[in-house]
Amino acid sequence: MMERTQVCIVGAGPAGLLLSHLLHRQGIASIIVEAQTREAIEGTIKAGVLEHPTVELLKQVGVGERMTREGFEHHGIELAFGGKRHRIDLHELTGGKSIMVYPQHEVIKDLVAAVLANGTTIEFGVSDVSLHDIDTTRPSIRYAKGGEPHEIQCDFIAGCDGFHGPSRQAIPAAIRQEHLKVYPCGWFGILCEAPPSSDELIYAQSDRGFVLVSTRTPKIQRMYFQCDPTDNVNNWSEDRIWAEFRARMANDEGWALKEGRIFQKGIIAMRSFICETMQHGRLFLAGDSAHIVPPTGAKGLNLAAGDVVVLTRAIRDFYRNGSQAGLDGYSATALKRIWRGEHFSWFMTTMLHDFEGEDTITRRFRRAQLDYVVSSRAAATSLAENYVGLPFECLD
Ligand code: PHB
Repeated sequence: MMERTQVCIVGAGPAGLLLSHLLHRQGIASIIVEAQTREAIEGTIKAGVLEHPTVELLKQVGVGERMTREGFEHHGIELAFGGKRHRIDLHELTGGKSIMVYPQHEVIKDLVAAVLANGTTIEFGVSDVSLHDIDTTRPSIRYAKGGEPHEIQCDFIAGCDGFHGPSRQAIPAAIRQEHLKVYPCGWFGILCEAPPSSDELIYAQSDRGFVLVSTRTPKIQRMYFQCDPTDNVNNWSEDRIWAEFRARMANDEGWALKEGRIFQKGIIAMRSFICETMQHGRLFLAGDSAHIVPPTGAKGLNLAAGDVVVLTRAIRDFYRNGSQAGLDGYSATALKRIWRGEHFSWFMTTMLHDFEGEDTITRRFRRAQLDYVVSSRAAATSLAENYVGLPFECLD
């Protein structure tokens, strides 16, 4: 089976789906191939915060309706440490911006529906994806589906297949410029049946490690605690999990987390990764295939959205007026926003987590930084501006 399209997109995550939709709005055709099933991508639990620019973009391109109806707009976050909670008023500090708590798999459902309504093909459940002739003007991808070999020829390949996908590996290792930092901790995430403990997200630092109190619905809460990344969820009974949350959230203000039945548990690795070679010939990487952030700041999906805005504009300019400039500048343009998000995610991670074996001066620096952020308007404004998200390149 052989097909042809303008842009072949590897991966139906937020980056691939959003790219296909943005391209469609510019009159550019794409086909998406995805290793997992539709049920799997629509059901996988991931982070849940959308930045202000992401929210605006989704609304602008007609996929924000359910998000506006069912998501929860938050005007602030809290930082908890030393037995007290401190509010960062995102809305006031950023001239009226906010964030939206709306989980990634809900964004994916909305984007899958939009892409299919555009008449675009998403091939789910493919295997053995390989990329060919990426350094020519006629690249292609090959894959297997139902035991049959397939090939798609195209003008461009977008590698939106996540950290473990084949796209990044198609760029010769010798020319790939990569940076990696692995943190010596993970996040233990739970979903539980309980009412919200707080109106806003709480990022808490304690001597026993970090806690994040997030939410999903009025009846389902999402929470995380810092853990050993090699730990096993089966070592953690419901009682032990709540005892750990209680110990870390001990405070002088007489409040406690609302507890309930835990129905989902998982451990997430923490790393900062950037592949600066986001383009090679006609292959362009976007989202997690090119960069990973630790989840402290919820930047992952939002950085992916920034990439595909830049890529859409570059591909549009190529078809519209033959311009190569946007394509050639893709990595440099996208990386500016990526490095900012990467630095902010590292900053939040190191400010809020305790790492084993640290010297006492590092711990005291952390506390000095937390005290500064909650007492200086300038420091709080910087955190707020980064948290609600810096502007995308505009897609005129
Ligand atoms: C989440 O709700 O899953 C979430 C929220 C904020 C973060 C990370 C994850 O920084």
